[in-house]
Amino acid sequence: MEEPPQRFKEALKGFALNPLPGMHRYMPNSGYPETRRFLAQQLSAETGIAFTENHIVMTVGAAGGMNVALKAILDQGDEVIIPSPYFVEYEFYIENHGGVMRLVDTAEDFTLDLAAIEKAITKKTKIVLINSPHNPTGVVYSASALRALADLLRAKNKGRQTPIYLLADEAYKTIVFDDIHLPNVFEIYEPSISVVSYSKSLSIPGERIGYAAINPLYAGAEEVITAMIFTNRTLGFVNAPALMQRLLPLLGTNHVAPSEYQRKRDLLYSALTEYGYAVGKPQGAFYMFPQTPMKDDLVFVSDLQESFHILTVPGRGFGKKGYFRIAYCVDTEVIERSLAGFKKAAKKYGLLR
Ligand SMILES: Cc1ncc(COP(=O)(O)O)c(C=O)c1O
Repeated sequence: MEEPPQRFKEALKGFALNPLPGMHRYMPNSGYPETRRFLAQQLSAETGIAFTENHIVMTVGAAGGMNVALKAILDQGDEVIIPSPYFVEYEFYIENHGGVMRLVDTAEDFTLDLAAIEKAITKKTKIVLINSPHNPTGVVYSASALRALADLLRAKNKGRQTPIYLLADEAYKTIVFDDIHLPNVFEIYEPSISVVSYSKSLSIPGERIGYAAINPLYAGAEEVITAMIFTNRTLGFVNAPALMQRLLPLLGTNHVAPSEYQRKRDLLYSALTEYGYAVGKPQGAFYMFPQTPMKDDLVFVSDLQESFHILTVPGRGFGKKGYFRIAYCVDTEVIERSLAGFKKAAKKYGLLR
């Protein structure tokens, strides 16, 4: 991972040297109003939709935000649809709150398969959970794909008391490559919640700071955010870390430049494709998800580790056998040193002569 921006370190030092009176006390469960107002302004500028601090709850990272939203929305036995491959922790988050995970395969290129999603929707479906930019594939869903999903959900919402919510895990929101633009779910579907984290954008995953925002265009926004503020308190973390909340407005739009990760993506992607690996070009986040050159991803990943000293994760850990995930959020030299190993593995398994 990159180091946090210099501005972050300076702002932290500023608070240590000149503490605000009362800055370590309890706060509103939704977080400091100043911080939420700052984020509401950012979201309003991004979307053209009128966000206020009342649409935002500060959370203990994206993990906290996802749990807060799921706890607020799910009743026992409610179903959550997730396009697969997927970030495996969702399964446990959903179980935490009595929900049932329904995995739906994506298309070959890991984009959304709407027909499969439609087939998976039942009376018990409460949420469609998407993650874009995506871990582990690096896919960014296009605006047209999300619009088609929104149309499908609107059609399915007819006659239902509560709509199917779109829960968007945007933990990698700022890490998008080339000229790709991350579509805004709020403009596309009214009953939507975005969960954002600073773990990756500021490279501070240990500090546990993020937020969840409800769409102001959704008629039931107040009811949902009220429930989320309550669950933020009762799930045990009570509120998001105070110091990090204080820091966010001082940072403005400062974040780790995606170009750093893009350079690493380009280095790894061009080498892997040259060696014959079948892999999609990531559009965001910092993962690559190639096919394994032999059937068993567990065997391949352990051979990569033992014979070539390269640490990767088997695809089955994300619900997709026959693939493996590489995290390229490491020093450039680590990627460079791995290339010889990937090349030898390609030769060993017949991708390269
Ligand atoms: C897709 C996805 N969602 C959520 C998280 C959790 O992020 P946070 O550190 O903000 O809780 C991660 C962390 O790797 C992730 O990859």
